[in-house]
Amino acid sequence: METSIIAQLAYLVSAILFVSGIKQLSSPATARSGNARASVAMLLAIVVTLLDNEILDWTTVAAAVIAGAVIGGVLARRIEMTAMPQLVAVFNGFGGGASAAVAAAEFVRLGGSGAGVELGAGVTIVLSTLIGAVTFSGSLIAFGKLQGVVTGKPVTFPLQKSFNALLFLAVLVVGAGLADAGVGDAVASIFGSGGIEIGVPFFLALVAGALMLGVLLVIPIGGADMPVVVSLLNSYSGLAAAATGFVLGNMMLIIAGSLVGAAGLILTQLMCKAMNRSLGNVAFGAFGTDGPTTKAKTGERPVRDVDAEQAAMVLAYAGSVAVVPGYGLAVAQAQHELKKVCDLLEERGVRVRFGVHPVAGRMPGHMNVLLAEADVSYDKLLDLDDINAEFDTTDVVLIVGANDVVNPAARDPASVIAGMPILDVDKARTVIVMKRSLSAGFAGIDNDLFYMENTLMFFGDARQQMSELVKEVREA
Ligand code: TAP
Repeated sequence: METSIIAQLAYLVSAILFVSGIKQLSSPATARSGNARASVAMLLAIVVTLLDNEILDWTTVAAAVIAGAVIGGVLARRIEMTAMPQLVAVFNGFGGGASAAVAAAEFVRLGGSGAGVELGAGVTIVLSTLIGAVTFSGSLIAFGKLQGVVTGKPVTFPLQKSFNALLFLAVLVVGAGLADAGVGDAVASIFGSGGIEIGVPFFLALVAGALMLGVLLVIPIGGADMPVVVSLLNSYSGLAAAATGFVLGNMMLIIAGSLVGAAGLILTQLMCKAMNRSLGNVAFGAFGTDGPTTKAKTGERPVRDVDAEQAAMVLAYAGSVAVVPGYGLAVAQAQHELKKVCDLLEERGVRVRFGVHPVAGRMPGHMNVLLAEADVSYDKLLDLDDINAEFDTTDVVLIVGANDVVNPAARDPASVIAGMPILDVDKARTVIVMKRSLSAGFAGIDNDLFYMENTLMFFGDARQQMSELVKEVREA
């Protein structure tokens, strides 16, 4: 397919918009405009591709665009913030599935009859199908685990890794047979079917093997590690799209796919670093097999608990307050009430800022999005290193639904979260922890912070308690 010079130029504009859009995503202040810019780039790329290739008639295109826009729009509006990781998982799966479907169509067009396709085209079709199908089935399992439809516990069986390695090898052999007629004949003769048309059966075997591989690679990973898996699958969906770009000879798809592939991989690495775990440990460590080790230690060790009035007094008479949000803030949707408390404190002259841990919540940027929703100014958000440098001069830290990211156990080499960079909140003069109980967080371990002398536990649902706090701080 020859691409016209105008289409090439439009693709170049799209690519520039994509790259600059991604660059803007690196700061919360410019992230929205980066998102909009990348969306315009995608629209331009789609319209130009459709016009340039006259692929489908306009009624089919309009029907597909309307159906996609309605489904996407309704899902995006209705989805709860806490369910965002599974929505991303489904989108990744669809991306991978679409790449595999395009590769399948191209395979059928070029010679699914078994006559064989040219080697270069064969390799890209096989890669696109393989990566796309793995991404599709793997993402559906990730979605199921996050949604609670599939068990969140790691599913393991004896010789699992060897079985997966063998399956991968078999898929590669089948893929090589498809991509190269010579290899295909050799492989077919091993199975005693030399001379028959091997194209379509081999293609179906490749799809089935890749789908199975996607399932088997994700089931041994605990539900709690799914955000990392989703990010990795996001990277795969980009690679599948890039491979499809080679299949179709479409430069835009290659660029966009490579950007997604690289960005997903970088994000995966950042998440692993913030948890002090390797990608291998996430993929094969079966983290969470034993489930939470500590559900509640109520009564075993004394804690000091406070009510809204007492917490309000401590906060209102502080000089500086650092707020540490966590997953519980997202569950309770307490961000708007939290903002009211912070505004009231600032009116009283208290210096307020927020310490955001890179893996607080359940997806990258989770806390930033919540705080942005409540109009918290970006310049008050400090990252891990910056806020850690301030804790020893902070009067009060208010922790809202955070647990693992403030757990001093990370400093203990024997702990399961050993080495995870944490927010050193225990260095502040007073720490107020707002959560419903002494239950463990995502990592399933007890938190010594709750029992420290300078810690006050403020039990209850974060939204309810935050509303109480608004009243009490106002009256303080
Ligand atoms: P967690 O350690 O998961 O703790 C959240 C706490 O929120 C829970 O202990 C829970 O205690 C409390 N909570 C739940 N609902 C609440 C409500 N309605 N009101 C008040 N509190 C509520 O959260 P975190 O500190 O944000 O740490 C995140 C964890 O997720 C880390 O271990 C991290 O490694 C992991 N993780 C994150 C990511 C990303 S990208 N963010 C990816 C993979 C893994 P109660 O039940 O007692 O209320």
